[in-house]
Amino acid sequence: MLTPLTRLLLALCIVFPPPLLLASPAAQLPLSPSPSSLSPPATVPDIFVCPPLPPRESPPTSIHDLRVDDFSVVMALGDSITAAFSAKGPQPDPIEDIFENRGVSFSMGGDPGFLTLPNLMRRFNPNVTGFSLGDHIAEFCAGPLCPPFQYHPRHDRFNAAQSGAMAVNLMHELGYLVPRVKKSEDVDFEGAWKHLTLFIMSNDLCLSCTPLSPSPPTWLSPSAFSRTLESALLLIRSQIPRTLVTVLLGLNVSGVYDLTKDDPGCAALRHSGAVFECTCAFTLGSTPAGDALRAQMDAQAQLYNAAILELRTSFQPGGRNYDPTYGDTFAVVVEPGMAGVRVGAWPGDMLSGVDCFHPSGRAHAWMAAVMWNNLHLPFADKIRLHDPPARLNWTSTPPWTRGSRHGARRAGPAGDDDDSHPAGVSEVPLWCPTAESRVATT
Ligand SMILES: *[C@@H]1O[C@H](CO)[C@@H](O)[C@H](O)[C@H]1NC(C)=O
Ligand SMILES: *[C@@H]1O[C@H](CO)[C@@H](O)[C@H](O)[C@H]1NC(C)=O
Ligand SMILES: *[C@@H]1O[C@H](CO)[C@@H](O)[C@H](O)[C@H]1NC(C)=O
Repeated sequence: MLTPLTRLLLALCIVFPPPLLLASPAAQLPLSPSPSSLSPPATVPDIFVCPPLPPRESPPTSIHDLRVDDFSVVMALGDSITAAFSAKGPQPDPIEDIFENRGVSFSMGGDPGFLTLPNLMRRFNPNVTGFSLGDHIAEFCAGPLCPPFQYHPRHDRFNAAQSGAMAVNLMHELGYLVPRVKKSEDVDFEGAWKHLTLFIMSNDLCLSCTPLSPSPPTWLSPSAFSRTLESALLLIRSQIPRTLVTVLLGLNVSGVYDLTKDDPGCAALRHSGAVFECTCAFTLGSTPAGDALRAQMDAQAQLYNAAILELRTSFQPGGRNYDPTYGDTFAVVVEPGMAGVRVGAWPGDMLSGVDCFHPSGRAHAWMAAVMWNNLHLPFADKIRLHDPPARLNWTSTPPWTRGSRHGARRAGPAGDDDDSHPAGVSEVPLWCPTAESRVATT
């Protein structure tokens, strides 16, 4: 039976197809010994192989001196990727195909047994709080269509992402997040060091193409995008003390088209109208006009990314948004790990079998590992993954990615039926922090 909320959501999807999101990739990223003084410690396949960190001799007094175990609060703003829409793939009950699997979200998931940034952090500080849990029906908010009262605070906790969200919806998300963190009994609001992941752009890209004009509507322009992000960052700085914000660069979402266009399962899903997805990437299909729209999207991603990089500098000493009052308590870091990936060259099972569009559980685990491995590297040294993804090592394929309906199988492992993967196991080697390592803020 459809609940009234479900019916509302479905109706909204029909009226205004949520440009959904895209997703991720692949690549082995062994950290090659860096020539800089920051030579990364050894990497491991399982975070539990890393020794625990010894207690600090004295608590940190600056955001520029944090160890990863100094974070005790995780938060996020974002879209359906951060909400982990359909990450677990097709479910026995079809209504659950429009669920967000919040507990497995790369940046916010806290369900046991899944590789996520909070679970990696919790290996070093069991007191981390704010991560999202479990699964529930999609919370839909896209541009002007953003109905209130959809959050499920017991599951979402400090994961304020909404499926369909665009940059303009960041203030709506902060309207949920800020009071929730402030009044949370588990949080030392003033004293706790907090990490916030901000990943928004994909839905803006999916609507940014215009068949009749080379530039997008004004409200989707790079300058509008920049102003919105800037307001969000300023609000975070003034409202949530001691926060390090990691802003993810966006990627060429159009690659999802190339990856899935020849897959019969995906084509059938699209033709059935069962999936709603990225307007710019799919509407005109394999026509020259379709190629032109996808090129517009990719060009737009470059402009949005340039805006993010400019904002990063603006919050550094000497920049127009730098304020010495917050010099030791606030930082904006940019995570470039996703920007260089070529989605079209990914293994098919990096996308959810529900819609051949969103990141699968495997992709979420991969993104979590990328973020983790980049945490301690300054921007210039962060791993960027420009190379086409290497064939991944299937020995630790997360079990929930198996059985997806589409092309996944062609890349899938043969006969792996071990479902008992502990939370810390990654197919990308993981970095082990040491007592000396600090979270990079430059
Ligand atoms: C976790 O919280 C407990 C109880 O408040 C405290 O004793 C312990 O030191 C904390 N651990 C860390 C790593 O912060
Ligand atoms: C993304 O698209 C832009 C614009 O076409 C292009 O310059 C860039 O190389 C693409 N990135 C990747 C990783 O394919
Ligand atoms: C995959 O992992 C297994 C076990 O860790 C290892 O023996 C094997 O060499 C790896 N294969 C590749 C292609 O990296």
